[in-house]
Amino acid sequence: MNEIESYNQAKKIVEEYNQEHLLEFYERLSKEKQNELLKQIHEIDFKQIQDLYETVIKKANTSQDDVIEPIAYIDKAKIEPEEKKRLQDIGIEKIKQKKLAVVTMAGGQGTRLGHNGPKGTYELFPEKSLFSILCETLKEACKKYSTIIPWYIMTSEENYEDTIRFFEKNNYFEYSKNEICFFKQGKLPMINKQGKVILEEQWKIKQASDGNGSIFISLLKNGIIEDMKEKGIEWIFIGGVDNCLVQMVDALFIGLSEEKHVLASAKSLVKANPKEKVGVFCKKNGKPSVIEYSEIPEQLAEARDENGELIYGESHIICNMFHINLIEKEGWKNLKYHAALKKSNYINSKGENVEATEPNSYKFESFIFDMFERVDNMLIMRVKREEEFAPVKNKEGADSPETARKLYLNKNRKTETL
Ligand code: UTP
Repeated sequence: MNEIESYNQAKKIVEEYNQEHLLEFYERLSKEKQNELLKQIHEIDFKQIQDLYETVIKKANTSQDDVIEPIAYIDKAKIEPEEKKRLQDIGIEKIKQKKLAVVTMAGGQGTRLGHNGPKGTYELFPEKSLFSILCETLKEACKKYSTIIPWYIMTSEENYEDTIRFFEKNNYFEYSKNEICFFKQGKLPMINKQGKVILEEQWKIKQASDGNGSIFISLLKNGIIEDMKEKGIEWIFIGGVDNCLVQMVDALFIGLSEEKHVLASAKSLVKANPKEKVGVFCKKNGKPSVIEYSEIPEQLAEARDENGELIYGESHIICNMFHINLIEKEGWKNLKYHAALKKSNYINSKGENVEATEPNSYKFESFIFDMFERVDNMLIMRVKREEEFAPVKNKEGADSPETARKLYLNKNRKTETL
């Protein structure tokens, strides 16, 4: 297609979807930038964006009819030592047979932390980044089980190069380079409250990662699942990049998942209080699910059982494990999207860059936990917060580097004295 045809087609697309403003500055751009802009317009699925605007944003709360019930979980602390040993042995066997792969989701924007660069490169301690901490955990497990565990890292389009460069610069933290594989997740345009796609430059459409639920389709599209199958992988642990206590190689977790014949498993924590901003596990219309803190009715959030425990108190902490067969079967089917209102700079109708002072644009994200609704049964294993959860989310206050550092040091001090 020549340049004129390309322009005419792009013009037709933007007119059809009421996004004419995207070509407003076209004449002022260099040839190179014109082509860049046209390429984006051709690649974007504007129909999908229009549908998302109509269904996700305008509809708001349609979940009134959902039947929400409590879900069963197993408390790790209450498993008898003998039983624990038996289950662990099952898991150890799987790890030694190289049936486990680990995936780290590192494609988030980390806007709350405000670190310049991929979140995994954030140094929690001097010269000790989140990536290096995760790698240490993996190296310990490899040593313990005399094996090597393949490590897959999902990045966004924007932070892919920087992430790889960081690993190269750090000599892959002395992990076997051939066992680390980086892959990219998808992205979607951001829109303003009127449903208009926003520009971040006169020639560049603002796009953002499409959420951590993108993990499944990204694993498939990038040939990672195929690669894992060739390696004989059965279980895939998927965790976030920002929990410096994440236990990615957990023999008991694998053993229990095998024993229960489930295809999806998750670790949970006791919700600190009814108002804590975490999603909690439940059954929704008979299927395992997670109900977001923003969506849970107060009465459910506050409900307690006869022992005084929150009935909906098992928090989702992105420590999940999936059987490869489930991802192969269900991963191609898109998960639903959720919309989040974010602060985002944009180019106004005069072509000027406007700095956002308040949330003004929607970002569409799918969430990893929406995969749970695709199974009838899943394992939920309650673990201890101080042993497995120290997230780095905010610049300061709760879930900040300061709180994570304390938890990390406490945990390591305890382990050393054992
Ligand atoms: P969060 O939901 O905490 O988002 O991600 P974030 O992008 O890191 O931070 P904020 O909200 O912008 O401050 C939880 C985990 O999911 C990954 C993140 O990298 C983190 O490990 N994630 C999130 C992705 O890999 N891709 C995404 O599109 C979103």
